[in-house]
Amino acid sequence: MKYLVTGGAGFIGSNFIYLLLDERPGSQVVCVDSLTYAANIHTLNAAFNNPRFTFYKEDIRNRKGIFEIFSKEKPDVVINFAAQSHVDRSIEDPGIFLETNILGTQVMMDACREYGVKRFHQVSTDEVYGDLPLDRPDLLFSEDTPICTSSPYSASKAAADLIALAYYRTYGLPVSISRCSNNYGPYQFPEKLIPLMINNALNGKPLPVYGDGLNVRDWLYVKDHCLGILAVIENGKAGEVYNLGGHNEKTNIEIVRIILHYLNKSESLITFVKDRKGHDRRYAINPEKAGRELNWSPTTKFDDGIKLTIDWYISNMTWMNECTGGEYVNYYNEMYGNRG
Ligand code: NAD
Ligand code: TYD
Repeated sequence: MKYLVTGGAGFIGSNFIYLLLDERPGSQVVCVDSLTYAANIHTLNAAFNNPRFTFYKEDIRNRKGIFEIFSKEKPDVVINFAAQSHVDRSIEDPGIFLETNILGTQVMMDACREYGVKRFHQVSTDEVYGDLPLDRPDLLFSEDTPICTSSPYSASKAAADLIALAYYRTYGLPVSISRCSNNYGPYQFPEKLIPLMINNALNGKPLPVYGDGLNVRDWLYVKDHCLGILAVIENGKAGEVYNLGGHNEKTNIEIVRIILHYLNKSESLITFVKDRKGHDRRYAINPEKAGRELNWSPTTKFDDGIKLTIDWYISNMTWMNECTGGEYVNYYNEMYGNRG
């Protein structure tokens, strides 16, 4: 089986590549990534040593380049992780989100049609459902919750989902979609909550918590997400959506306190800053369909996963420093400079 993985030099895509190389020993893995700011090529160091791994630096928006890769590699299965993925950046500059997340996905699906790919899997997000109220813990996102997006990021992901389902219905392209809650684990770029807070805490810098810190996210360890995607590809039905989540809701301030406590740092580092525009209040996934139909459920408990994650960043400070040099400094100053 030959898998083509887009966005494999990013957070979840790289974890997925390592899962495939470890757990599908006969497989070939082709990675396509344009190496944006969010990628770190050193993330794939171990994969480059594996003869079953091939890498192409290419942009999913480049139809000609993508078709050439398909013509050469003829993948069986395509998993589309490549995306602009950070909500805050989408608020500042939506255009690149629409181009990458919508038009790039279309290019990938057109290539899949042309080359008769057996499954196109779109990695989507629970953010397409909008948000839930804090005072209704009984409400969870299921696959038939209406799409109701808040940010340019989530709107672009929802658009891609709808186009993917249209390609299934109209052209019979065997598409599947997974919508997952917030991930955490190794190789996450430190613009996202958990690695940003770990990095700041380790460097004794303020920890910028948006608004009142009471927004809720449903956290899933990245390996569990990757196992869920594999289960959808192998056992899920074409034309279907599967929600993946861990029944693990936490407020942002809880997360920040857990990190500080584990690192033995003072809570005086916490700084409440101006809220994100349109900030979604609560996400919470109902993953029953994936449990029932795919026999998937998360295996890593949050208490263990967060320790594994913090320990990983402590042991990989070189990797972290590669991410936080250069452009990151400008990004950080622009995003957080006038926020206090
Ligand atoms: P990431 O930002 O860490 O990585 C994205 C990768 O895509 C990077 O390596 C980047 O270089 C690459 N990329 C971006 N634009 C590209 C283009 N035009 N052509 C080729 N490559 C391009 O993102 P992530 O957190 O790993 O998320 C991966 C996918 O999972 C995304 O589609 C995201 O919407 C989805 N998702 C993420 C989460 C989460 O918590 N991080 C949760 C649910 C779903
Ligand atoms: P993030 O990691 O950006 O993921 P998403 O917005 O896709 O859920 O943010 C997670 C939560 O943490 C979200 O409620 C915003 C909040 N947050 C902060 O309070 N401070 C920060 O510096 C960041 C990056 C996020």
